[in-house]
Amino acid sequence: MTEKNITQMKKMAAEKAVEFIKSGMVVGLGEGSTAVYAIIEIGNKIKNGELVNIKGIPCSLNVEKVAEESGIQVSDINLHTSIDITIDGADEVDSKLNLIKGGGGALLREKMVAQITDREIIVVDESKISVNLGEKWHVPIEVLQHGWKTHHSFLQNLGGIANLRLNTTGSPFLTDQNNYILDVAFGEISHPEKLENQLNQRTGIVANGLFINLANDVIVSGAEGINHLQK
Ligand code: A5P
Repeated sequence: MTEKNITQMKKMAAEKAVEFIKSGMVVGLGEGSTAVYAIIEIGNKIKNGELVNIKGIPCSLNVEKVAEESGIQVSDINLHTSIDITIDGADEVDSKLNLIKGGGGALLREKMVAQITDREIIVVDESKISVNLGEKWHVPIEVLQHGWKTHHSFLQNLGGIANLRLNTTGSPFLTDQNNYILDVAFGEISHPEKLENQLNQRTGIVANGLFINLANDVIVSGAEGINHLQK
């Protein structure tokens, strides 16, 4: 699969998802190279008058900038009790539409947006599909800088090997909240819901990249075309 084909597939999935957006909706705008194509497409539809009165809730500071550049009116999440549709990417998707997210570091805001979203639409190319989560990806875990090393043995007891995410310069990657990210290799995760609950109970862990029962639709694009998976 060439780079060009992968880009084409991401674009196809994102544009398919945008078809579900109607004028007047509050729309969650996800992070990542696939979700960005959705933002651009929404911006195009606003420019040509196909969509009006759209309010965008960005999942990262980076997305906020892209949305504004694309002509989407950005709104504050605090002004909304619910979001109509969110279009976001994922790093891995299992057969029950559970996800690993956070490859781009935006997991905390993505999860906050997802948990108040009526219809969470995930856009991926076919390389992201697994039977069990953890087959292909580590689980990103956002932790406070304070005491970040104290989580290593806790995570090891849960079967994970944690690595601090670094920038290309070798310094720790910082999230939009100025936290660190541990990328934790668990191998195949047989009970993702249980693991998510265990991670949720740990003080100092701010968010984890297991998105369980949050996706309503997954739009997968592949060499054969689009596959629309639904809960
Ligand atoms: C951002 O933190 C992630 O959850 C992304 O949604 C995920 O990494 C997918 O990104 P790509 O579409 O670039 O693969």
